[in-house]
Parts: sequence; C-alpha cells; structure tokens
Amino acid sequence: MFQSLLIKNATAILPSGRALTNLLVENGKIVSMDAAPTTIAKEVIDATGLVLFPGLIDDQVHFREPGLTHKEDLHTASRACAAGGVTSFLEMPNTKPAAIDQSLVEDKYRLAAGKSIVNFGFYIGATTTNIESLKYATGVPGIKIFIGSSTGDLLVDDQESLERIFAETRLPICAHCEDETTVRSNQARLGTDLKVSDHSVIRDEAAAVIATRRAIDLAKRHHHRFHVLHVSTAAEIPLITDHANLITAELCPHHWHFNCDDYARLGNLIQMNPSIKTRDDNTRLWQALLEGHIQVIATDHAPHTLEEKKQPYPKSPSGLPAVENYFSLLLDRASRGECTWEQIASWTSDAPARVWGLVGKGRIEIGYDADLVLVDPNEMRTIENSEQFTKSRWSPWAGESLRGFPKQVFVDGRTVFRDGKIVTEQPAARLQFDHTLGGFWKTQDGVGPG
Ligand code: DOR
Repeated sequence: MFQSLLIKNATAILPSGRALTNLLVENGKIVSMDAAPTTIAKEVIDATGLVLFPGLIDDQVHFREPGLTHKEDLHTASRACAAGGVTSFLEMPNTKPAAIDQSLVEDKYRLAAGKSIVNFGFYIGATTTNIESLKYATGVPGIKIFIGSSTGDLLVDDQESLERIFAETRLPICAHCEDETTVRSNQARLGTDLKVSDHSVIRDEAAAVIATRRAIDLAKRHHHRFHVLHVSTAAEIPLITDHANLITAELCPHHWHFNCDDYARLGNLIQMNPSIKTRDDNTRLWQALLEGHIQVIATDHAPHTLEEKKQPYPKSPSGLPAVENYFSLLLDRASRGECTWEQIASWTSDAPARVWGLVGKGRIEIGYDADLVLVDPNEMRTIENSEQFTKSRWSPWAGESLRGFPKQVFVDGRTVFRDGKIVTEQPAARLQFDHTLGGFWKTQDGVGPG
C-alpha cells in the first residue's frame, strides 16, 4: 500500500546543519526536503516549533532474548527504544545461549522479526574456539569480543586467540575492554567483605587502560577495523586518538553522568562494567566527545530486575537500562549550551551508521530511510520509573528533571510512538550492512581496510 507522510515546518537537523524543511516521505524513504506545504499526503504533520532528528541508532544494547527474558525481551526493549527515539539497535551476543555462530544469530533475527517495532541487528560473539564462525559470519554489524568478562560467560583474553581473531577475520571488531587479570587481582586484594563502591576499585582505571591498549595494539598490527565500546576513563583518551580512522570509540551516558560519589545515593543501581569512575573522568570524557576523539554515543542498555539489583554487592548484577532516557539527557545538555543538536545527531545516528556500515540509515537526506524523531526541545519532565517501557521498569535517572523529549517517532515513515504512547505493534526490519561504505574506516590512502 502506498504510504506518504508530510512533515511541515520542521527544524530538521541535516548533515549540513539545521534548516527549516517540509519533508516528504514516500514508501518509507525521504523523497523531498522542500516539498510544497500544500502537497497531498496520507499523513500531514505541522511541526512548527519542533525539531526533527534522524532516528537514533544505539550500537550497544543487551536485550536479553533468548534466555533471560524475565529482565527484558525484544518486544519490550523495542518499545523502550521507540519511546526514547531509538529507531535501530545493534544487540550484543551475551544472551542465553550466546550468539556465537550464524545459526544462533539467525535465531535472534527470527525472534526480532516477529516482535521488534524498531529496526534490528545482532553481533556475533567471539569465543576462544569459534574462529571459523567469525570468519564466515554474514548479515551482522561485526564481531564482539569480551576481553574482560561481564554478564554471561563470553570471554577471550588469551593472546593467541585474540591474535587469530584480529588476523583471520574481516568484519569490524568491537570489544569490552577491562583487563581480566587486573580485575581478578584487585578482587583478591580486597577480599570478600565488599561494598558497591569497591566495584570501581576492582574494575579500576588500570583495568580499562591495559585492555584498551592491548586491543588497539592488536587492531593496529593487524590493520583491523576496531571500535572501543564504552570508554570509561580519561586515561584511555590518548589511546583512542588519531589512528587514521582505523579506530573509533564510544561513550555511554552513565560514564559522563555518574561518578563514584553517586554510589552513596544510587548504590548498586549504577553498578556497571566498565565501572563508573571519577568526576574528573566525567568532565574529560565529555570534552573528548566534543573534540571528536570519541565519535559515538551508545547506551549499553543492560537491564536487570530491581530485585536482582537490590541484592547485596557483589551478588547484585552489573548493568542498567538506558535506551529511553539518553536522548533526553543529551537534549537537556543542549538546552544548557553544553552541546549542539547537530553534535547529538552525529554522535547518536550518523556516526554509528558509518561505523557499522548501516545501509540507508543515520541521516535526514533524500534517499535515506525515514527513521525520524520529532522532538519538543522545550518539554520539561521528571523521569519516573513508572513511565519506563523497559520490562525492568526502572531508570537510574528517576527523579531527574530534563528539558527536551521525543514527541513522535517514525520507523520507515510509520509512526511508532506519539505523545507518550506506543502506537504500533508492527515489526520493523532487519538492518542491512555494507562494510565497504565505512565513512570512518578509511586509511590515509582512502581505502577501507579489512
Ligand atoms: O554492566 C554491564 N552489564 N556491562 C556489560 O558490558 C554487560 C552488561 C550486561 O549484559 O548485563
């Protein structure tokens, strides 16, 4: 059925900057940015006073299906995405079973195809024994390595396996970088009488720096495209800077927003891997983002039930939900002059699309898919647990008042969220990857490596 949508008078955040547009969508694609305001379309929206962003692409989420669906599932998580302006997600392999070969990855695609209301992609996870699966995997954004262990039992920290993965595979690699040996020896030193603030002593700055340095060394020697997930310390910034675009990096909201002082107020709720660090790290990581040393913002959305989180440390699991709040955290920062809407669009949409070679995503541009978010930049609201769409029904930002919220969200030109409500159950699409697109993945001679 022919579908058309006209969004009139919107301040759109385009690759070239903001511009007043009359945006016309036909059959899910952006076909015009300066349509006549009188154009006849099935749906016409007057967006006067609203800002139109490209839909957010969250490249690091843990949606728990299969196997851990008491915490979250692909349906509830995708609704949380829609409410937060996230129109595409890339999900991590530490489900149960872990997604470590093509058929397990395809199982997840099949599950999502029946129930995810936003677009979806799934990484393949590395183990010490699945090099053949990694070599021949297709239809995935890339390979995820847990160089340090976290939720689940995926871990590759022996040098021989890491060398082989970087040498013999061709897909882009991303990694959770916390050095296992450092973490274990910190743990042994602190003993068993632990409080949650010890989490940042066990998973300390050295653990992050050692593992990030090790992974970058591998990427450089093997000339392999590499994305550093959730940078948590300022000490990692020199490591990720200036590697001829072979290496990109990512920051998560909890690592710029929370620090060790917040354990007193929030306790286990902000227990995360990598751990949160100091106030100084918050400031310097945000600065690294502004300066372009970090290109991507993602959430590491990792829900656990409140009951699980409330167990005494270290029984309490690491992880927090974030997909539905991070856009507003950023819009709020923009409202205070700490960043621009253009930067937000780059960090949350254009950059992740280019890092992972997402076809047709990441920009408001003719020919691109109409994954869009209409934002009211002046709406003020206090985050409430009861309003969260995630199955875990809590947010570490509950009680915080923010300015700037998604008002209407479109996936392929169809409204999925409007004025606080999910308005569709229709499944969205499997993401397509073209790793030769690679805006970031260029060597000095302009040829994409790997
Ligand atoms: O704290 C975390 N929890 N960090 C991760 O990398 C994984 C995540 C989870 O899956 O629970």
